Amino acid sequence: MRYLRILMVEDNPDHAELTTRVLLQEENINEVVLVETGQDCMEKLADGHRFGLILLDYGLPGIDGLSTLRKINKSGYDIPVVMVTGQGNERIAAEAIKTGAYDYVVKSSDYLSVLPAVVIKALKHHRIKKENVRLRENIEQNYLDALAVLISVIEAKDPYTHGHSETVSRYAFATAKEMKLSSREVERIRAAGLLHDIGKIAINRKILLKNGSLTNKERKIIQTHCDSGVKILRPAAFLEELLPIVHQHHEHFDGKGYPQGLKGNEIDLGARILAVADSFEAMTSARSYRPAMSFEKAVDKIKKHAGTQFDPEVVKAFLRTVKGLGIGDQK
Ligand SMILES: [Fe+2]
Repeated sequence: MRYLRILMVEDNPDHAELTTRVLLQEENINEVVLVETGQDCMEKLADGHRFGLILLDYGLPGIDGLSTLRKINKSGYDIPVVMVTGQGNERIAAEAIKTGAYDYVVKSSDYLSVLPAVVIKALKHHRIKKENVRLRENIEQNYLDALAVLISVIEAKDPYTHGHSETVSRYAFATAKEMKLSSREVERIRAAGLLHDIGKIAINRKILLKNGSLTNKERKIIQTHCDSGVKILRPAAFLEELLPIVHQHHEHFDGKGYPQGLKGNEIDLGARILAVADSFEAMTSARSYRPAMSFEKAVDKIKKHAGTQFDPEVVKAFLRTVKGLGIGDQK
């Protein structure tokens, strides 16, 4: 059993002492740290002390319990809060629950006999919630791993495209970071980079691996991989936010791409980033029917198509990234 410390925010010393004594009788609770104000509570949390639960009195000097609760939420601490209110303050208690408190206890005559059970229940509930989050993340990661295996199966059929999606994902990730997008957005773009061509699994291998130029009909068939990718990924709800990127990664900034002919900002920013990363990776890799293009030539081509095929702002960021990563040195 790990060491469990509770943070009690209570300005009444008698009350604090009694409550501490009762809580320490619980075998799972090892320590109760007392602070008297909301400000002190926030400072204690900011100090990096780890607490299993916060017992927060509503009537505090300075900022009250509800405002303190809002501050705790805003700072993103993942600690369950039990609000303690005076008698007749049930409205506050309801407000506390709405604001994110796990539960509340009213300081009534039987307060001390009720409190330990509420605290233990909150701790248990929080532990289960965390465990559920961990399990869900595990499932999602396993699903992503399985999809990555599918991608490598597609790429393994063609030695020339081996590792393509991983490299595209890396370039797109670096470009998104260079554009100072939020970490969530950067992660969305990285994941979509890995999965963008998953729709190719639905395409006839003979067409996919054809040596030499494609007929119009074959080209149209290959182009269906954007729609197929969406169909394959749609059943996984947690991948929903990747779908626009997967669907739109062959759209052109000037509206001449496929599958929808979207233009400019109509195209998801992630897809605009991926378009540059994808083209650059393809150009600088050898194909069965042509050698790899030199780094300088590929950079020139990307620059040349800024404003037509590619978003000029994305191109600028990509070129800065390419320099920073020394991608050219590796080629
Ligand atoms: Fe593609």
